[in-house]
Amino acid sequence: MSDTKLTTTAGSPLPDNQNSRSAGPRGPLLLDNYQLIEKLAHQNRERIPERVVHAKGSGAYGTFTVTHDISRYTRAKLFSEVGKKTELLMRFSTVAGERGAADAERDVRGFSVKFYTEEGNWDLVGNNTPVFFIRDPMKFPDFIRTQKRHPRTNMRSPTAMWDFWSLSPESLHQVAILFSDRGLPQGYRHINGYGSHTFSFWNDDGERYWVKFHFKTMQGHRHWTNEEANQVIANDRESAQRDLYEAIERGDFPKWRVFVQIMPELDAEKTSYNPFDLTKVWPHGEYPLIEVGVAELNRNPEHYFAEIEQSSFSPSNIVPGIGVSPDKVLQSRLFAYADAHRYRVGTHYEMLPVNRPHSVVNTYHADGPMRFDAPKGTDHFYEPNSFGGPVEQPFAKEPPLRINGDAGWYDHRAGNDDYTQPGNLFRMFDEGQRQRFFANIAAAMQGVPRPIIDRQLEHFHSADPAWAAGVEAAIRATHTEPASAPTTAADVAAAAE
Ligand code: HEM
Repeated sequence: MSDTKLTTTAGSPLPDNQNSRSAGPRGPLLLDNYQLIEKLAHQNRERIPERVVHAKGSGAYGTFTVTHDISRYTRAKLFSEVGKKTELLMRFSTVAGERGAADAERDVRGFSVKFYTEEGNWDLVGNNTPVFFIRDPMKFPDFIRTQKRHPRTNMRSPTAMWDFWSLSPESLHQVAILFSDRGLPQGYRHINGYGSHTFSFWNDDGERYWVKFHFKTMQGHRHWTNEEANQVIANDRESAQRDLYEAIERGDFPKWRVFVQIMPELDAEKTSYNPFDLTKVWPHGEYPLIEVGVAELNRNPEHYFAEIEQSSFSPSNIVPGIGVSPDKVLQSRLFAYADAHRYRVGTHYEMLPVNRPHSVVNTYHADGPMRFDAPKGTDHFYEPNSFGGPVEQPFAKEPPLRINGDAGWYDHRAGNDDYTQPGNLFRMFDEGQRQRFFANIAAAMQGVPRPIIDRQLEHFHSADPAWAAGVEAAIRATHTEPASAPTTAADVAAAAE
């Protein structure tokens, strides 16, 4: 049969794709019209659950090329020689919006990279910010709730956001970035990417280094003001998708220069800050950027659903020479993503073409929904076996990690300096950036009860008194004050309605 003959999913020729089979021209439909039933049933199953966060996104394929030798830090094959190329997939996203949300919203941007290396997939699932809102994963679901919809109103709740942030001073650094110009980029080509967490490298001599990854946009940073973004959204909800897709189609391939910061393993015991704290950056003066290579996007996917919606990135996808770190948030993400994929995409999500490694895959996981092919070797379906089945690869064991400590719940807020680094960032803003920053924060605080605003202003003040004063002035210029400011918890709750 030629390729253009329409069939059912069982391959049977489909006689009529315009008219349902009915009892007479005006009569009811017949249940034996299995072609119609199949069509409607498939439509009912066309969606999978959207990602619980980062639901709205765009992606493309490309290559990573090594430009500088870092093989003394890591044995990862993708970094083994200058000029080496590795295929990759990148997906960008906003965090809070649903799949149909507009692109030009003030939000953190997701920056996910899947490197299809010769020793398996390495996924770097980062953001366009070097830090994050929380430092203990116990707070992630709470934090995300404040970014999503209020259970009763089904609307976003600025009160919930500022209530949570003002009660979680570790969020201040990321809040500062979110309300700066960087919080509203013009498109994905104009953002940096960061692994954010501290990861590790290990080399052939069994030495470990702590490492942070930086992708610097070669297209330059471009941002919208709130007012410009409102105009963009009024005309185009897919502005970032359009910008990325069209640039690649016309051969204007976006590129990022890739850098690492390297910290020798034992330095981690000496730094004044905890180098595994996701709310902190490592000062570049102490740990300078080391150039590694260039990532380029040069091919749009053929089918958005198959290749981007079903793409599944996980921080647990690492390769020999790259490891994780004691960062508690990273540790929890090692569980969360593959668990999400099994639910969102299915048991064998990693066998879909977009997720499948470009290297040999040999596991003993065989059965389960959507097993597409017959597993290799029916006699070695357990391990160890005498039938030539796949065997473990001791070379891939990373060097032992020295850890100590008594099991317990340690207060991650006690004695932590949440103010110096955000204050330093604020002090780098020029006057124009500061004024936009104050106005962005004041706009986001519209309708938030005064006690919550006051609590947040105290954090701004601790970072830099000029920060608090600037926001206070912007609030006075733009907010309509309630007749009497609420002061008790009940008042706050009432005012929040
Ligand atoms: C997506 C959990 C923190 C970046 C997701 C998804 C989950 C998740 C369940 C959806 C995955 C999917 O359905 O495919 C968590 C948890 C966190 C956390 C439990 C902390 C405890 C972070 C941090 C970053 C980050 C710190 C960045 C540094 C992303 C990105 C995506 C994502 C970029 C979208 C991945 C894609 O493009 O498919 N997260 N996350 N997340 N997360 Fe996180």
